[in-house]
Amino acid sequence: MSRSFPAEFLWGAAAAGHQIEGNNSNSDTWFAEHVTPTVFKEPSGLACDSYNRWEEDLDLIKAMNLNTYRFSVEWARIEPTEGTFSEAELDHYEAIIDGAKARGFKTVVTLNHFTSPHWFAAKAGWLNPAAPELFARFTRKVIERFGDRIDYVITFNEPDLMAMLKHHNLPAFVQQLSDATVEACSKAAGVERYRLANVMRLDDIEDYAVGMERGHIAARQVIRELRPNLPLGISVAVTDDQVVPGADPALRDAKRAEVYERWLRLAADDDFCAVQNYEREVYDGAGKVEIPADANRNFLNAEIYPPSLAGAVRYVHEFTGKPILITEHGLSTNDDSDRAKFIPAALSHLLDAIEDGVPVIGYIHWSFLDNFEWIFGYEPKFGLVSVDRSTMERTRKPSSFVYQEIATNNAL
Ligand code: BGC
Repeated sequence: MSRSFPAEFLWGAAAAGHQIEGNNSNSDTWFAEHVTPTVFKEPSGLACDSYNRWEEDLDLIKAMNLNTYRFSVEWARIEPTEGTFSEAELDHYEAIIDGAKARGFKTVVTLNHFTSPHWFAAKAGWLNPAAPELFARFTRKVIERFGDRIDYVITFNEPDLMAMLKHHNLPAFVQQLSDATVEACSKAAGVERYRLANVMRLDDIEDYAVGMERGHIAARQVIRELRPNLPLGISVAVTDDQVVPGADPALRDAKRAEVYERWLRLAADDDFCAVQNYEREVYDGAGKVEIPADANRNFLNAEIYPPSLAGAVRYVHEFTGKPILITEHGLSTNDDSDRAKFIPAALSHLLDAIEDGVPVIGYIHWSFLDNFEWIFGYEPKFGLVSVDRSTMERTRKPSSFVYQEIATNNAL
């Protein structure tokens, strides 16, 4: 017997500007990709050329019979130098919004998906006390222009990512190379502190979070003033943190307190909480438990564990009491048959949570396209759709048909 999702459930695919557009050359991340040394495996370059191919992209999402598109606007394009706003770039994003509406989609727009303008990073990024105001001014321009046609707005994507990675103890060389990249950026820009959101020194994490927290509050105020009915939230990266039955949960709880809770508390005045989940972690009384030797693994060597999404969703709802929008969930793999199994398996656990009363607005899969995976470059493949890097031709993977069927039936 088939099991249905709630009526009006959102079924989407997710992308982020810098990862798909190409030539985001006024951004901090572009700058960091080109310094020496750099932690970026390769530069983003033309990415998926979605800046030019966005209509074809929207048609593909339509072909998958999805009803929702999540994407981000690039602050570095809209405000390439401080205080100068580009009407042409606002037109560009407005056209995408209108194109999405014309195809009948709901739009979920992220205002800050890690990247910021180069000039902003050169002024210490989110460590700059003026950062929240600068972000609020940019937010105002975006919301004034097309806030009436956005369905859901996300201020920040994963402001907890760095705290989470710190907790995961990245290999020492990655952290050293990240520190060296930040140093090289400061030197190349001729400033004392060049700071960006997804390559960070460990000792900046707390102050960076404080800046982003203020940024969220400032942007929320602007959005509420201009569009009081526009639902808003933050996308929080949440691992499914489990405890071995009978073990002391203290270590797991300490991780939750350190990584997520600041953001989940902030959601108290938001309309929903956006959850992004990829994995689980298991704790016993003494620490993290190793991945079982026989576990199926993804491209980045983490365990493939479909129930993790529901676990993360249940936790966030319990903590916040808010409706949940899943803005990312997916799998990095070269074997698309793993993805084709992973999606329905994860959704089945999600449906259990929904049937238990957790209000879930929708599910937006990461990622729409195989795209620029930040420091890892183009090697990890998360896409429902592959992109030929020499021709930019898009090809749907078999898993996208599995996903299409679920979305079409709104049922498993
Ligand atoms: C980010 C995406 C990223 C994805 C897969 C999330 O952390 O929001 O930008 O590509 O995970 O690594």
